[in-house]
Amino acid sequence: MLMKYSVIIVAAGKGERMKLGFNKVYARLEDGRTILEHAMDIFMNDSDCVQITVVTDAQNYYDNVKGFWPGKITLVRGGNTRQESVSHGLDTVFAETVMIHDGARPFLDKDSLERLKQTMETEKAALLCVPTKDTIKVVRDGYIVETPDRNTLMNAQTPQAFDTELLVGCMEKAFKEGYTGTDDTSLIERYSDVRVKAVEGSYANLKITVPEDLGERK
Ligand code: CTP
Ligand code: MG
Repeated sequence: MLMKYSVIIVAAGKGERMKLGFNKVYARLEDGRTILEHAMDIFMNDSDCVQITVVTDAQNYYDNVKGFWPGKITLVRGGNTRQESVSHGLDTVFAETVMIHDGARPFLDKDSLERLKQTMETEKAALLCVPTKDTIKVVRDGYIVETPDRNTLMNAQTPQAFDTELLVGCMEKAFKEGYTGTDDTSLIERYSDVRVKAVEGSYANLKITVPEDLGERK
């Protein structure tokens, strides 16, 4: 399948850990354009992407992304959790393949996106990820209880890509059960037998989460 796809860009968070006093996706990078605009750019320029649904606070959108309004963009309101925001986006999707991307990831590269697209020609769910650089400790009550073998650990990124029907079905089950995942493939892992393919991403594709992610050393 593939290769025409819809993308949902989730941008309706509060950005609390970034401590800007406003949603971080509207912060401007050095070129004067917002993080959200950067996150949208790669999809604006991909002719296989037939629909961009931005999940956002509309007022902020008009203030910050105006003049950037070609036909393939749809706007929807955010939810209380990232998962709810994704589900609002899913209601608009018409392509058989959907990608979910964080509005807070402005540095996605074309090669990673192409690898993900190619993977979706034969898979039903896939995500970009990179080998974990740090040793990860499982800590309970202040003491280490386990050190997982780092060679099996990857950092999950976005985009994460899905057969649209599959994600819609798993999303319904998650809401019915009251389960909230921190990413989208976790719903596939939990509510289907489909194996999720790990696709090599890039360390540059980081999520802007804390001030240090924009090079601030305080
Ligand atoms: N997001 C969303 N709706 C929510 C929560 C998050 O659309 N209710 C989006 C954010 O805008 C962001 C992405 O999901 O692009 C990843 O979430 P995260 O990095 O946690 O962003 P925030 O929730 O905004 O930040 P924080 O958790 O620090 O408040
Ligand atoms: Mg958050």
